Amino acid sequence: MKIAIGCDEAALDLKETIKTHLAKQDQVLVEATDFGVYTTEPSDYPDIAAAVAEAVARGEFERGILLCGTGLGMAIAANKVSGIRAATCHDVFSAERAQKSNNAQIITLGARVIGPELAKTVLSAWLASAFAGGGSTRKVEKIMQIEEKYHT
Ligand code: RB5
Repeated sequence: MKIAIGCDEAALDLKETIKTHLAKQDQVLVEATDFGVYTTEPSDYPDIAAAVAEAVARGEFERGILLCGTGLGMAIAANKVSGIRAATCHDVFSAERAQKSNNAQIITLGARVIGPELAKTVLSAWLASAFAGGGSTRKVEKIMQIEEKYHT
């Protein structure tokens, strides 16, 4: 699975923890590409959110991981990119449902909200989950219809 990962300076440590976790876990073979940032210099999370979300929307990556202080700014920004469904998940149940029910290609986490061990567990649940289809298909299609209505 090709995954694009990015963070702002608030989540630099968490990004490194997650990259190591992705390389070590044996659930899914993951090839992670790091879109930055790479230092603790102040940065603007929408820049990284756009770069990752656009690469996922172009089909270059199956999924994306975006990390900031809360996970919220990254999700809000990523969801502005056409075709993207990004979900902030700080618990295992939400991470599973973000895939199974919402077919969210991008998960966002907040380094100031979640500890590194729970973040790894949440990501493992997300990696192990896939869109369930069925009754959720129509609902996800309706989300995308809302997007079409407002994006010209
Ligand atoms: C810091 O810029 C902080 O606002 C950011 O990491 C994130 O929490 C935004 O949603």
